[in-house]
Amino acid sequence: MKDSIPMFVLRTQEPDDLRLSAYAGLMSPQAEVSPAFFYDALGSHLFGAITLLDEYPATREELEIFSVAHEAIAKQLPTGCSLIDLGAADCAKAARLFGSILPTGYLAVDVSEAYLREALESLSERPGVPAVAGLVVDFSRGLPPNCLEGRVPGNGPRVFFYPGSSIGNFHPAQATDFLRGLIREHQAAALIIGIDLIKPARLLEAAYDDALGVTAAFNLNVLRVLNRSVQTDFEPADWRHRARFNQEASRVEMHLEARRDLEIRWPGGGRRFKAGQTLHTENAYKYTEASFEALLNEAGFAVAACYRSRSGGFVEFVAHPATAA
Ligand SMILES: C[S@@+](CC[C@H](N)C(=O)[O-])C[C@H]1O[C@@H](n2cnc3c(N)ncnc32)[C@H](O)[C@@H]1O
Repeated sequence: MKDSIPMFVLRTQEPDDLRLSAYAGLMSPQAEVSPAFFYDALGSHLFGAITLLDEYPATREELEIFSVAHEAIAKQLPTGCSLIDLGAADCAKAARLFGSILPTGYLAVDVSEAYLREALESLSERPGVPAVAGLVVDFSRGLPPNCLEGRVPGNGPRVFFYPGSSIGNFHPAQATDFLRGLIREHQAAALIIGIDLIKPARLLEAAYDDALGVTAAFNLNVLRVLNRSVQTDFEPADWRHRARFNQEASRVEMHLEARRDLEIRWPGGGRRFKAGQTLHTENAYKYTEASFEALLNEAGFAVAACYRSRSGGFVEFVAHPATAA
């Protein structure tokens, strides 16, 4: 029988604090919710379905980069490294790189606990997989100090892997702080990070509002997760999915728009929404190659190499702490 996979579960907020910060977001003048609430098991499966949509090329483009450049990427990394996958989901992208990077260990980090457990169990059945472990944590306020200590299999130089343009969920200033923290608090030896580039608004909007309505279901699922985790009484049928590219801020915004005047209640409070008012559920910031390189530099990283997809829509950076470059 296989040894069980080490799974570490770190709560960054007490349940009461989680509830209070969720209610504060719902009460803001522009109601908002943290995108971490998208990802229960259903949300993770819906995201997996999004990656298969014609309108959503980012995943295919990043995998294409890996199939062309996996050896070149590996050459930029310290040997015997431990790979730390931020927002690992099904771990499929990291698994594509194992054969060239040859990590001594792999730590998959994600907020979606049940989905991560399943992904690691099936990953560990495969040949050529290093020692693996899982860390369940919400890193929306940064990766907590010391959360990696004693938890990184292989204990090699730490290579952080942050694919899927997920860094785009952070405002650029927060993204900079998050990445700086990888060097200052978590001894990053290198970073591999994938970025979806700015493209025409119609392409960006279609990527977040597909014809089959899969992204709409993903967005609406946040209401189920809120109901379950912070006892709100959202009725998904009362809400409509909206996605638009905010050119000035360089971000795709996802919202849920009330279809009628309604009131949402939770223990000790509530809020009225007029028809047409929205709940802001996600930002996905888009960059140019140059603007993201500047952000990396600001965070203390120097770019060692960068690889573009054939269509030019997606770029993968390999970067090192500038002081070690
Ligand atoms: C857009 S998906 C990307 C998945 C995969 N890395 C890829 O590139 O296809 C974002 C992943 O990050 C996880 N995630 C999102 N917000 C998170 C947070 N605040 N803390 C930890 N994980 C988070 C989600 O559960 C999900 O698996």
